[in-house]
Amino acid sequence: MSIGTRGRGGRLAVVGLGPGGRSTCSPEVRELLRQATDRVGYATYLDLAEAIEPLTRTQAAHASDNREEAERARVALDLAAEGRDVVVVSSGDPGVFAMAAAVIEQLDVEASPTRWSSVTVTVHPGISAAQTAAARVGAPLGHDFAVISLSDNLKPWSVIERRLDATAGADLVLGLYNPRSRHRPEQFGRAVEVIARHRADATPVVLARDVGRPDEHVRVVTIGELADRDLQATVDMRTVVLVGSSQTRVVAGADGRTWTYTPRSYPSEVADPD
Ligand SMILES: C[S@@+](CC[C@H](N)C(=O)[O-])C[C@H]1O[C@@H](n2cnc3c(N)ncnc32)[C@H](O)[C@@H]1O
Repeated sequence: MSIGTRGRGGRLAVVGLGPGGRSTCSPEVRELLRQATDRVGYATYLDLAEAIEPLTRTQAAHASDNREEAERARVALDLAAEGRDVVVVSSGDPGVFAMAAAVIEQLDVEASPTRWSSVTVTVHPGISAAQTAAARVGAPLGHDFAVISLSDNLKPWSVIERRLDATAGADLVLGLYNPRSRHRPEQFGRAVEVIARHRADATPVVLARDVGRPDEHVRVVTIGELADRDLQATVDMRTVVLVGSSQTRVVAGADGRTWTYTPRSYPSEVADPD
């Protein structure tokens, strides 16, 4: 398989828009949005792209449902194979629970060796939700961390629970994406229970909703407080959750501001957090 091989076909650029605003979308991605003949994506993310670079009269947008990633990737590749200049849009970074892997997976599984051989595929990064959330409160991702999607659409819940247990047990800071939806309101509470087995009640937790967007709301609570179901219910699919390690702390800085951060060094006596 060759990715990035130039041929007679068009181009497919998988781009990350960042959290939402024009100022946090890279100049490279904005240029690709301007140049493209076609934009392909989940309708919500096409709206984000529109706010960053409005469609011109000659550009087309192809919206699809958020659960149809494979089909969306194939539509985009077929358009590029016709010679069109296509962007596939993701929010945040396209390589973090988003379209870059979906496009490459289709290149991987396609049976015909010639169907997309003329297409030039490239991936262009964006600022992921966890990075924006972290920056708002300080530096909670300052030491080792893991990111886990709590969605069980594409993997069984038993795998998610095992990964939560292992990464919380290894004392990593955790970034939780897709934390809680209307279809699975109970699993976030279960995830909190699993993580809390490895954490002191006072461990800081960042609840960051709509970061980088007009309705941004960011709070720092504790894992102990997060046992409260009413607090859990404020978390939804527009929220990213950062759970601290044993070393993450909330401090009053000498600049007068409250900061949440995870120090760069790790004390040797915390070899086994359990
Ligand atoms: C399918 S994942 C896409 C992640 C995206 N590729 C990224 O790098 O941010 C969707 C999840 O990302 C998180 N997310 C995306 N944008 C967000 C934002 N602006 N504020 C808070 N969370 C966000 C939420 O957890 C949401 O359920």
